[in-house]
Amino acid sequence: MLLASLLLVPFLAEAAPISSIADPIGFPDYASHEHLFPYMGGSGPHFSYPLSYGIPKEVPEQCTMKQIQLMARHGERYPTLKTGTKIMDVYKKISKFSSKLNGSLSFIDEDYEFFIQDTNNYEELTTFENSLDPINPYTGMQDAQTHAKEFLYQYGDMLENSTSFPIFTSNSKRVHDTANYFAKSLGDKYNVSLQIIDEDESSGANTLTTAESCSTYNKTANAGITGQYSEDYLKTIAKRLNAENKGLNLTSSDATYLFGWCAFETNVKGYSDMCDVFTPEEFAYYAYEDDLTNYYAYGPGYDLAKVVGSVNFNASVELLKQSEDLDLKVWLSFTHDNNIVAYLASVGLFDDNQPLPVDHVPIRNHIYHKSWMVPQGARVYTQLYECSNSTYVRYVVNDVVIPIEKCSDGPGMSCEFSKFLEYAEDRLDGMNYVDSCDITSTSNQTSLTFYWDYESKNYNASLIQS
Ligand SMILES: *[C@@H]1O[C@H](CO)[C@@H](O)[C@H](O)[C@H]1NC(C)=O
Ligand SMILES: *[C@@H]1O[C@H](CO)[C@@H](O)[C@H](O)[C@H]1NC(C)=O
Ligand SMILES: *[C@@H]1O[C@H](CO)[C@@H](O)[C@H](O)[C@H]1NC(C)=O
Ligand SMILES: *[C@@H]1O[C@H](CO)[C@@H](O)[C@H](O)[C@H]1NC(C)=O
Ligand SMILES: *[C@@H]1O[C@H](CO)[C@@H](O)[C@H](O)[C@H]1NC(C)=O
Ligand SMILES: *[C@@H]1O[C@H](CO)[C@@H](O)[C@H](O)[C@H]1NC(C)=O
Ligand SMILES: *[C@@H]1O[C@H](CO)[C@@H](O)[C@H](O)[C@H]1NC(C)=O
Ligand SMILES: *[C@@H]1O[C@H](CO)[C@@H](O)[C@H](O)[C@H]1NC(C)=O
Ligand SMILES: *[C@@H]1O[C@H](CO)[C@@H](O)[C@H](O)[C@H]1NC(C)=O
Repeated sequence: MLLASLLLVPFLAEAAPISSIADPIGFPDYASHEHLFPYMGGSGPHFSYPLSYGIPKEVPEQCTMKQIQLMARHGERYPTLKTGTKIMDVYKKISKFSSKLNGSLSFIDEDYEFFIQDTNNYEELTTFENSLDPINPYTGMQDAQTHAKEFLYQYGDMLENSTSFPIFTSNSKRVHDTANYFAKSLGDKYNVSLQIIDEDESSGANTLTTAESCSTYNKTANAGITGQYSEDYLKTIAKRLNAENKGLNLTSSDATYLFGWCAFETNVKGYSDMCDVFTPEEFAYYAYEDDLTNYYAYGPGYDLAKVVGSVNFNASVELLKQSEDLDLKVWLSFTHDNNIVAYLASVGLFDDNQPLPVDHVPIRNHIYHKSWMVPQGARVYTQLYECSNSTYVRYVVNDVVIPIEKCSDGPGMSCEFSKFLEYAEDRLDGMNYVDSCDITSTSNQTSLTFYWDYESKNYNASLIQS
């Protein structure tokens, strides 16, 4: 870095004497967009949950950790094939524009490199190798590595008697890669066996992707509700850009993909000028549309989502119950956002029984922020700890303690274990994943067993791009 700057400074100083005073090397101001990450629909870089009541995520001093569970999302990635192709189409449309670009899109006519240089990177985690900027601070790879160090710092003691242990991951390549970077980053002291669980529906209930196994799942079941949300903000964006550039003809749909461009470009390059195209209100409308569609397709607004999430919640409760008998104190699992959202719907952490409205953005009265729960690199921890002979359960979502409001009078706003069991039983009551999802039509695996039989089964499904 030092050498590079010595070489670059004289050159840049000559080429651009004025800007070089403020920014002699010419690096983008990566952090300047961080305040926007919570409004990127979960497609941009990781961030900590933005609202906290100041309760430390470390367990209270007089208490001892007994078990820790993690449900994590893969880290920062390129867009999927589907979304990437749409963004590329918008890029082509703008590139074809015959006049010089004017207004907020004019950066594309300057020294600009589109962030999708190789379509083989669709679906992939961003890494040092496939990042377009060698010092991009937001790669999925680095996020997983940093997360592992933070994990060790807080929970490393719990591994003192079990340095050989499993980490569970779905067989999606980017999910697996995240788990693998995490595992490697723990250091040579640990011998991690990755248990790679198939996303195929033949896995039935024995999976980290119960939504994928559910043959009756219908993502558009509530499209009639979510379709009522106004897309005027998208029309406004398209109109503004078309007014600045006569004949550009951007549509509302193109405008949606510009948000994805902003988010994914940040994962790939660490920075995106596209993020400056929108006003703060437009980010708020966009983020809420994402909350809304997610709430009714994968969250508490869709009854089947809670059933889908109940499999992992039930397994989590079972691990907690068996804490005294299980040698392993650390249960780490990696999957996709939709499955974590369904899991959280089953736990009920962000479910206040008030259906999200479609006719306005409930700015103050709104606890369901999808991207705050499952940004790239999301991490939902379940802590089990003992304080003077009683045990307690508590959730930590993206570094912030999120109490179960109805049960939070334990130390550190935790829930006393027997009360937690009552709470969980109540949430799980009447949930029947196997029946509701017609699991036996596609699989003979009617319960989640991998946490208990991984040593004999050694799960090793082939990786897929999904
Ligand atoms: C590790 O084993 C020792 C000795 O049995 C015990 O005192 C200690 O609590 C164990 N540590 C954990 C994290 O279980
Ligand atoms: C690492 O773990 C595997 C089980 O996954 C075990 O077979 C192997 O002996 C362990 N190696 C060491 C060095 O502990
Ligand atoms: C999903 O739900 C929508 C809205 O109710 C309905 O139109 C569609 O047919 C459903 N799809 C399936 C596969 O059942
Ligand atoms: C550039 O955009 C401004 C509005 O920002 C507009 O007034 C002007 O006409 C545009 N110029 C061209 C050449 O389109
Ligand atoms: C925009 O639409 C006009 C009228 O339909 C058409 O002549 C023009 O070629 C279009 N421009 C682009 C860039 O597609
Ligand atoms: C919950 O887990 C237990 C233990 O794995 C299992 O016996 C039970 O069937 C599960 N219940 C549901 C509703 O999944
Ligand atoms: C914890 O339980 C043990 C045995 O039941 C008892 O001897 C001890 O006094 C208890 N400690 C506290 C702090 O309640
Ligand atoms: C479940 O199905 C798989 C593959 O179809 C088969 O290999 C396995 O033996 C079956 N298991 C049971 C318990 O029937
Ligand atoms: C998984 O392991 C089994 C038994 O070791 C082996 O037969 C199978 O080929 C492996 N599958 C993959 C995808 O590596």
